[in-house]
Amino acid sequence: MPFRIALSAIAVAGFLAMPGAPALADDPALTVGDPEAGARVFRQCQACHVVDQEVNRVGPHLVGIINRPIAEADGFRYSPIYLEHREDGKVWDYDALVGYLTNPREYMPGNRMAFAGLRSLDQIHDVIAYMRENGGVWEN
Ligand code: HEC
Repeated sequence: MPFRIALSAIAVAGFLAMPGAPALADDPALTVGDPEAGARVFRQCQACHVVDQEVNRVGPHLVGIINRPIAEADGFRYSPIYLEHREDGKVWDYDALVGYLTNPREYMPGNRMAFAGLRSLDQIHDVIAYMRENGGVWEN
């Protein structure tokens, strides 16, 4: 645990030191999880999401979701609140993923993801690692 906290502190410090730098894809906080444990966590997501192919189900596909702009999956009908955040330039960086996956409804009132949230920060780190390994990091 202290290891993880230290890594995010470094990430935050690095980001503050370089305003405007497009460094979020390299945020070490996005790499602290265990992808194998994350595969088990992702079972809670896969009724609605595919991560390794651009296939939308109940939810949008999650290929390249790490640092992907919000509401980017072609052909998916997003909620109005998603489209608003898209206009504001919101991106799924570490803080956004942790906030959303902890409690989607509280983090973004009005969004349509019918999911209560993950119980622990470890689970969130692990599912991020799984999605990173199987769907990759946004590169455009
Ligand atoms: C019951 C279906 C359902 C489950 C379960 C679910 N999601 Fe979602 N998810 C959605 C929907 C629907 C949206 C789009 C919400 C909107 O448009 O308001 C979404 C959006 C997202 C987004 C943003 C995608 C984008 O294109 O901006 C991420 C990231 C995400 N989900 C991750 C997860 C993860 C990780 C889990 C499991 C821990 C999960 N979801 C579980 C239905 C689900």
